[in-house]
Amino acid sequence: MRGPFLSSLDGYAGCVSRQRRPYDVGHRRLEKALAALYVGGWPAKLWRLFPGSTQVRLEQHELALGREAGRPSLRLAFGSDFHLGPTTHRATLERAFHLLREARPDVLLLGGDYVFLGATQSRVKELNDLVHSVRADLKIAVLGNHDFWARPARLEVALSAAGTVILVNEALRLPPPHDDVGIAGLDDPFTSLDQGDFESRQHAVDEALEKISDAQVRIAVCHSPDGLLWVRGRGIHLLLCGHTHGGHIALPGHRPIFVPSPMGKVYPWGRHEVDGTTLFVSRGVGGSLVPFRTWAPPDVAVFDVR
Ligand SMILES: [Fe+2]
Repeated sequence: MRGPFLSSLDGYAGCVSRQRRPYDVGHRRLEKALAALYVGGWPAKLWRLFPGSTQVRLEQHELALGREAGRPSLRLAFGSDFHLGPTTHRATLERAFHLLREARPDVLLLGGDYVFLGATQSRVKELNDLVHSVRADLKIAVLGNHDFWARPARLEVALSAAGTVILVNEALRLPPPHDDVGIAGLDDPFTSLDQGDFESRQHAVDEALEKISDAQVRIAVCHSPDGLLWVRGRGIHLLLCGHTHGGHIALPGHRPIFVPSPMGKVYPWGRHEVDGTTLFVSRGVGGSLVPFRTWAPPDVAVFDVR
């Protein structure tokens, strides 16, 4: 039975939920088994006992784009891959959202993968509370592969109720005094259908980018750095992504062993300059298959655009 929070789903078709590339059978079985094995959230509780396990780094960056004199600096705060579920401890989430609140951003940007092992009633409520706790003039979110594999309509409701605009191949202009800035939210490259039809997916992204083509500052958010293939050479100044977790299990020196993303293998974390675009790949916040990370600490980011 639905709790009171999800009663708002009645009659709600979902603004961006649509057919997706599904899990393969093996992955679905794995998640079913993990949901049974991890009941009670013991993996996150166990990992919390490890010193420093709930620490989240703050990545602070500046972006000088020569905006008109008199424009105030625009502060963006970016968090991704929160993965509410049995492998992410509440203390890690609280630390991440504390940093996002402390940043006092003009715009909060969220990079997707809000849950792991399903968008349950309690996770959806917790997500709503956390996002609601950040004060920002505007909150913008994209969805990730784990969201589309869960119940994206529930996540859309939770995010919307926390004052968030969800952009899937859509774009908007910021209100004054930052109306020289346009932000586009891109579809998740991994789960979007027409896997073989790169051109049609590129066309959908191009339509979104066209809506902010006359903005002096153009920013895009995509769950995965594979979105770089869509925006490369198209005049985007800043592309913010997550998905990689920095490899999640990495070797000393932050060297990932495996990253499930072609572009993520090249850009697994951090800031990079690529063909006129500043690409930032967050290591995200939460756990997915396993609760622990090695040499891939969680992070959130702040960008001051001047
Ligand atoms: Fe993730």
